[in-house]
Amino acid sequence: MVKSSFLWIACLLSVWVGSAQGGPKSPLQVFARAPYLQLATPHSIWVVWRTDGLKPLEIRYGLDVRRLDSKVPAQRIVVRVSLGTNAHTANLKLQVLRQPRYARLPRLHSAPAGLVQYEAMVSGLRPNTRYYYGIFEGDARLTPEDRSYSFVTHPMPGQAKSTRFWVVGDSGVGREPQTSVHRTMVDLTTRQGRPLDFFVHVGDMAYPKGRDVEFQTRFFDMYEPTLRQTVCWPAMGNHEGITSRGTNGVGPYYDAYVLPTRGEAGGVPSGTEAYYAFDYGRIHFVCLDSHDLDRKPTGAMARWLKADLERARSDWLIAFWHHPPYTKGSHDSDKEKQLLEMRTHIMPILESAGVDLVLTGHSHIYERSMLMDGAYATPTVAENVILDDGDGDPRGDGAYRKSAGLNPNQGEIQIVAGHGGARLGRKGTMPVMKRVVVEHGSVLIDVEGITLTGIMRNKDGVERDRFSLVKQGTATPIRLAHPRQLPPYAPPASPSDDGAEEPPADFIVLIEQHDLWQYLAGTRPVSPNWTGPAFVPAGWRSSRADFGYGDERRHQTELSDMKNRYTTVYLRHEFEVENADYVSELGLMIDYDDAFVAYLNGREVLRKGVRKEQGSNALTIKAHESNGYRYYPIKDIEKRLRTGRNVLAIEGHNVNADSSDFLMDPYLIMED
Ligand SMILES: [Fe+2]
Repeated sequence: MVKSSFLWIACLLSVWVGSAQGGPKSPLQVFARAPYLQLATPHSIWVVWRTDGLKPLEIRYGLDVRRLDSKVPAQRIVVRVSLGTNAHTANLKLQVLRQPRYARLPRLHSAPAGLVQYEAMVSGLRPNTRYYYGIFEGDARLTPEDRSYSFVTHPMPGQAKSTRFWVVGDSGVGREPQTSVHRTMVDLTTRQGRPLDFFVHVGDMAYPKGRDVEFQTRFFDMYEPTLRQTVCWPAMGNHEGITSRGTNGVGPYYDAYVLPTRGEAGGVPSGTEAYYAFDYGRIHFVCLDSHDLDRKPTGAMARWLKADLERARSDWLIAFWHHPPYTKGSHDSDKEKQLLEMRTHIMPILESAGVDLVLTGHSHIYERSMLMDGAYATPTVAENVILDDGDGDPRGDGAYRKSAGLNPNQGEIQIVAGHGGARLGRKGTMPVMKRVVVEHGSVLIDVEGITLTGIMRNKDGVERDRFSLVKQGTATPIRLAHPRQLPPYAPPASPSDDGAEEPPADFIVLIEQHDLWQYLAGTRPVSPNWTGPAFVPAGWRSSRADFGYGDERRHQTELSDMKNRYTTVYLRHEFEVENADYVSELGLMIDYDDAFVAYLNGREVLRKGVRKEQGSNALTIKAHESNGYRYYPIKDIEKRLRTGRNVLAIEGHNVNADSSDFLMDPYLIMED
């Protein structure tokens, strides 16, 4: 988001709010958010980055990586500042930032206090040309002299250019599948010597709530080597929609992206970053907000879409947004409002304008349709809406075919690419689909002249789907009364789901495994506030996890008197967090038998196997055998976690007093 006219920061340079302590930093440590590219056009591009504290930075660029002979000076860079995200932050930096002279700077919505975002428009560029760039403080080059700090401007609209872009959805979990999906793409494009021209993200890039810190760890940190040299064109997902609003363009999502509102990248001005268009050579793209705006044909978004498509003169038309019009993955487009409305209100507009490809996510699966048109009924059926029921694979049934140019109702391919990292799911088989794959992965689209090819590879790099669409001459579509369809889906016996997840790919241990805990066994706490930070655990003992008896194993703390005497054990552990605003996830690793309730700073945050109530009133304990560490994220940490001292409290319950075993073996981690 670029919120205001250019702001002059020269008057602010006397104030230094960065951390001066510690030794010299490596150049890249200077950035709180490493430089990334946005809003490319044939003649301009935006470079965005963040630092901790305001610095007099400029960007230099040029055609030679060693000679960056043009620059955008500091005073032409839009600068925005954060005053913090919550009431727990009250540090020196914040006090400095509250000085009146900062009042004129536009704000970031909710980044950690003291972070400054720089948005630099590099303009006057030649089309389809590679430029190298660097961020400088005086003559100090803060980004390495490396060819990956570069961008290629867009070709002129109408100019033929082979095009490659990456499609990812529902990725922002910070877990292993996300890193593998990314690495696979990087390895492949490197091996082929054919890098991406750009990146399309179809939403849910920062789970679970699209908070600023979740964007940092689960989008920007994850994709940094790609983002420094590739523009990501995003669509907002429902998870970003928890903290960002399409209606007013405010929130961490709108802080993260600089998007066209005035038609500067092609198409009709939308007047909002929530939906927009851009051109890449002979391809016209439209991005919509399916989450929190009016989806009806009379709404502003649909009216803009119609106006934009009426003027489109490209060879190809590609649309993307978050909620799929056709899916039976982890969501069902026959039942959910946003999905139904995108199908019944928006698809007719796109199809009558000749759309070729629709990219969505939300449903955590890969689904790819046959060549289809006019499927507006609910429930969706395949009869009379399929124009080619083959697999579209040139090596199989042959490529799909359409007439050259944009022609109404000649069919499109629908791709649901919600398999970028989040936990997968499938409910059934959508009749219009040709390929359904329940694996993590992503899609590469290549457009070469008259041929568009899509390839889906899983997170191990194995090709799992391929189709081509050829647009040439005049094709005559025929509606198939009885197209071939995939066999019905037989769901496997549902595995028990107790909410355990994969831990983050990168984490820091806050309470060590087998650490010393304060504990109370054989009696109950004197105060109901035993879970809170103010409680003094007088009379409690101190010993190492794990706590338990039985099960033919040795325990660090052997509760040899527990059997037949008591069923509940109380544990407390303090821990420190340097700055709560930087914590994107906190979670409990625990091996347990049978049940527990956990509290953070006096509030319940997690419960497993205890149906209701707590402590000695706890009701209906479900038996659970120890089976190694399970990981459970702790909810609402933005409300519960504090900068400085925190208290984690756990009450462990046994199913019966005469049970043969008991175990509480917890430790605590946070995402790094
Ligand atoms: Fe979603």
